[in-house]
Amino acid sequence: MELIIQPDKHAIATLVADSITALIDRKPDAVLGVATGSSPLTVYDELARRYEAGQVSFARTQAFMLDEYVGLPAEHPQRYRNVIEAEFASRVDIPAEAVHGPDGLAEDIPTACRAYDEAIAAVGGVDLQILGIGTDGHIAFNEPGSSLASRTRIKTLTGQTRRDNARFFDDDLNQVPTHCLTQGLATIMSAKHLMLVATGDHKAEAVHQLAEGAVSAMWPATIMQHHPHATVLVDEAAGSKLQLAGYYREAYETKPAWQSL
Ligand code: F6R
Repeated sequence: MELIIQPDKHAIATLVADSITALIDRKPDAVLGVATGSSPLTVYDELARRYEAGQVSFARTQAFMLDEYVGLPAEHPQRYRNVIEAEFASRVDIPAEAVHGPDGLAEDIPTACRAYDEAIAAVGGVDLQILGIGTDGHIAFNEPGSSLASRTRIKTLTGQTRRDNARFFDDDLNQVPTHCLTQGLATIMSAKHLMLVATGDHKAEAVHQLAEGAVSAMWPATIMQHHPHATVLVDEAAGSKLQLAGYYREAYETKPAWQSL
């Protein structure tokens, strides 16, 4: 796992966008894994800017979402499908049919979840997965206690996650769904490159556990320690509890020029 401490979210977004554009350069039909929430927003801004500047095209890419709330009406602005459309897909040239997400309105949820994992496998898997992290250590919506071998399935959101996300629902906890469909930890781990973004001191403990804690279902993101190509990009605040911060900085500063992220 590579830890990169940057001054702010814009510096982080530049590095993630560099990796995505380099990937699309060498593989124009790349499969991207897209996250919702606040963390990736500056990445999407930077990708939209580069698309507008003619520096990258998403025309042949596909995108797979991490998760979706269960039961939100199709037109609800916080339905993750609509969020990804607004924040990313509508701002670049990715075709509408190339954006995939778990169906939070499916009548047969187990079948829909299986079909989602199969759809990811059918395109050869995700090449680069963007991730955020919850204050409770979740990635996608794999809450504490999630099986480290899980596949896409329904999960109950923790009270902590629902409180964290109430800001998207007029600060009204009652409006925040109680369940979601989420890629499992094994589904996420099958992506070829994981890039996790975290900013703010409320993420510091989760980032410390992710990189330096024991691998445990109590901090689901710790499974990333088993991934052969995981990059964690944090600002100073989110990196403030890292015990080996000095070493991570030194490793990044002295990284050989030929070694990409
Ligand atoms: C969203 C997702 C979640 C968020 C996490 C952090 O698709 O998968 O794991 O990445 O809850 O959310 P923010 O970025 O809003 O702090």
